[in-house]
Amino acid sequence: MAKQILVTGGLGFIGSHTVVELQNAGFDVVVIDDLSNTTIKVLDQITEITGTKPVFEQIDLRIKADVKAFFDKYQIDGIIHFAAFKAVGESMHKPLDYYENNLGSLVYLLQEMRDRKLDNFIFSSSCTVYGQADELPITEKAPVKKAESVYGNTKQIGEEIIEDATKAHDFKAIALRYFNPVGAHPTTKIGELPIGVPQNLIPFITQTAAGLRAELSVFGDDYDTPDGTAVRDYIHVVDLAKAHIAALQRLIDNNNKEKFEYFNVGTGTGSSVLEVINAFETANSLKLNYKIVDRRAGDITAAYADTTIANKELNWKTELSLETALKSAWEWQLKQK
Ligand code: WQD
Repeated sequence: MAKQILVTGGLGFIGSHTVVELQNAGFDVVVIDDLSNTTIKVLDQITEITGTKPVFEQIDLRIKADVKAFFDKYQIDGIIHFAAFKAVGESMHKPLDYYENNLGSLVYLLQEMRDRKLDNFIFSSSCTVYGQADELPITEKAPVKKAESVYGNTKQIGEEIIEDATKAHDFKAIALRYFNPVGAHPTTKIGELPIGVPQNLIPFITQTAAGLRAELSVFGDDYDTPDGTAVRDYIHVVDLAKAHIAALQRLIDNNNKEKFEYFNVGTGTGSSVLEVINAFETANSLKLNYKIVDRRAGDITAAYADTTIANKELNWKTELSLETALKSAWEWQLKQK
């Protein structure tokens, strides 16, 4: 009997790619999404890739009664929780919406796990919890620093809530601290769907290359980095999705060493903004229109992962290159109307 996994935010960018990999690994999948930052079309696109349509429920996880009703209806063997607001800039203008949605929904899910003796919780966290780390590459021993954004704070507080819940109740959990997810599925049937003006680098690059944006603004070239532009660890979204399967299997097999664990999920390689632009131009044989402007408030100089622990404990490592990610991102963009 296949285990049934709930994926909240399962029609989102990382969520949809994780649903595909869960189905590929033989799990049954139930998706909850409130469709506030995606479209129902993604459900059919997932089905086209795997041939199996995930069960879907449109639920607002801020409504406790609806969360309870969901668990009255479905037997769940594990939860991968993506559903959250995630725009760093927006979070500074709407802090209470972010705390209500990102933390309220988390508490309601954990209460159902407690009350129904469910197990195996995977949490979508972020390297943003480290702020500007003192040492690079960033290991899991790096201190969590005061978040620079409300979004980042919801990830930090979320991890603390989960850790406290696993101490008090009978379930175990893993937080995956993502670096920068990029790219699209090789079938180009699913990918990143930013609504409005993209905040993140790669969708802004692909929309500029597609002529939807006049030019890319590079936020600062006066950082203490080799070419002056900020450095990040860009991980292909399919590799990131597979890390969730590895983490879930670790919990199902009771191979965890603590009731609450966290892992840095990146490639281990840092790339500057200019390096990404050059890689995008080379991979896709085009020239990108960009200009250097002032730094963006809240940005850090550099972040890239030490992947030693994740590679060993999850028996997982990245397999796809930045070039592959940038090609898939461009192919995905070309398919958008
Ligand atoms: C990457 C680099 C920018 C846009 C954030 C969150 C993280 C995760 C990913 C949700 C930076 C530069 C960007 C542009 C630019 N969010 N840039 N021009 O800020 O590293 O991470 O998004 O899961 O938690 O913190 O990602 O893609 O916004 O920026 O020069 O138009 O590209 O300054 O150096 P970031 P990003």
